[in-house]
Parts: sequence; structure tokens; C-alpha cells
Amino acid sequence: MQIVRNSEELARARGAIEGSLALVPTMGALHAGHIALVEEAKRRADHVAASIFVNPAQFGANEDFGRYPRREGEDARMLEEAGCDFIWMPSVSDVYPAGFSTRIHVGGVSKRWEGEARPGHFDGVATVVAKLLVSVRPDVAVFGEKDFQQLAVIRRLVADLNIPVEIVAVPTVREDDGLALSSRNAYLSEDQRAAALALPRALDYARGAILDGTPVPMVLDTARKSLIEAGFSRIDYFALVDAATLEPLDAPAGAMRLIAAAVIGTTRLIDNLAV
Ligand code: PAJ
Repeated sequence: MQIVRNSEELARARGAIEGSLALVPTMGALHAGHIALVEEAKRRADHVAASIFVNPAQFGANEDFGRYPRREGEDARMLEEAGCDFIWMPSVSDVYPAGFSTRIHVGGVSKRWEGEARPGHFDGVATVVAKLLVSVRPDVAVFGEKDFQQLAVIRRLVADLNIPVEIVAVPTVREDDGLALSSRNAYLSEDQRAAALALPRALDYARGAILDGTPVPMVLDTARKSLIEAGFSRIDYFALVDAATLEPLDAPAGAMRLIAAAVIGTTRLIDNLAV
């Protein structure tokens, strides 16, 4: 497996690929969730590339860009074992060279939730994902449902800009106890890790209660309270949304998703569940 670090090497590595290529974009600090994307990528294409780039443009000024876990050696070992053909691991100056002035803003689905809690975040995601797709030119790109709104933003981006790639979604991989795998789980103390379980449990509870016919506002209220009781200090949102438009629902209708973001200690966790 080759580690490709600049545009010239990327052009050569891409040129050497015969048959179809699937790309798995990541920010590294890989876990079994990322590897599930690689496994799906292998089923979808003849060859698989992953990218590792901690994208400064998608982090807010007071967010964790500086302390985001970086584990290049371990990541490379995991991707090689999973069967990646190459890793695209550009530097910040390769992605954003002096004079770089373009930002992609996806409207609509990016407006609420993460878009509101993290202003500019989705512009950073859309810009870097567009660059990754245009520079690597995969036939397929694989993303996780863990970042449900991000997936919707990327589908919109690809449709609106006619980027010739198929977007494939993979269900969230969880720990045995239900916590969604996340690179940010590494920030949790033992106590916080135990309390964080309240998040998937609140989603599970809410799903059941909504399907049982309990009024949605009541369900969401109970779920939010359970998070605060468990030790979460802030809830950015806990909502029932239309799975396609991400618009909030106050009663069941069509394809629905529960989405949530909440802070425990200094760690912000997000999760979601199909209803
Ligand atoms: P990152 O957080 O590293 O996630 C990379 C991919 O892994 C995303 O598609 C994400 O949804 C998926 N993923 C993360 N945890 C998962 C889990 N538990 N189960 C299944 N999939 C999971 O998302 C990003 O990076 C960045 O925003 C990126 C798209 C790379 C652009 O910079």
C-alpha cells in the first residue's frame, strides 16, 4: 500500500489504477467504523483509496483542531490490513496553497443542526470533499451514517455540481453497549464514557416511544432531560427530522430520523437513529 503525500504522487498513483476506484475520506484516528467503510468500498469497486486529512477549514476557532487525535502510523497499518491500495495524505499547504480563495456553500440541508451549532463547518466539509473528489476522481465515495447531516450535504453537493461519483452510505458502527464509535470518544474519561451511553439510550427510547404513539414533543423533552440527568452539560439539539430534508417534525411522517448533539465534559458527541 502506497502513502501518497503530494499532488504529483497522487496523479501517478491514480493513473496506475485499472478498473473502478472507491474513495473513503477520513480525518484519521481510525476505528472499526472507518474500516466498515473500507469493507463496503471493496464490495463496490475494484480498488480502494482512503484519504486522511484533518481539515482545518471545517473546525471553528474554539474547536478541537489542535488536539484532534493524529495517529498516522497506526492508521496506515489498519488501512493496509483492510486492503486499501493507497492512502491520500496531503499536507494543509497541498490542499490550501497560498492564494486559495474558494469556499463551497451548500444551502438547504446544511442550514440547521450542525450548521447552526458549528457556523462554517459544512462549508469546510463541502470544500474539502469537492477537492478530494475532483483530485482523486473515484467512481464511488463511501461515507458513514454516523454523520447523517454531512451525508445529506455531500449528496446535495455532488448532485448540484454534477460530480460524477456514486455516494454510498454505511450504517453506524457501535460499541457492544451501543455508543457510536467516534475518534472523539478518545477524549472521554472513564466516568464520561459511562455517562455518554445515555445518548444512544435516549435515541433508542425516543424511537420506541414515537413508534408507540407518544406525542413527539413529549418524547423529545423526556429524552433531553435524560441526557442532562446523565451528566451532559449542554444539548445542541435532540430532534426528530425528515430523513431527506432534515426539517424538524413535531409528528411522525414518512422517512424519519432522530438526530442529536450534546456535550459531556469538553467533548461534543453526535449520534442519530432511523425511526
Ligand atoms: P471522520 O470523522 O474521520 O469520518 C470519516 C467517515 O467515517 C465519515 O463518513 C463518517 O461518517 C464515518 N464514520 C465515523 N464514525 C463512524 C461509525 N461509528 N460508523 C460508521 N461510519 C463512521 O467525517 C469526516 O471525517 C470529515 O468530515 C470528512 C468527510 C473526511 C471531510 O473532512
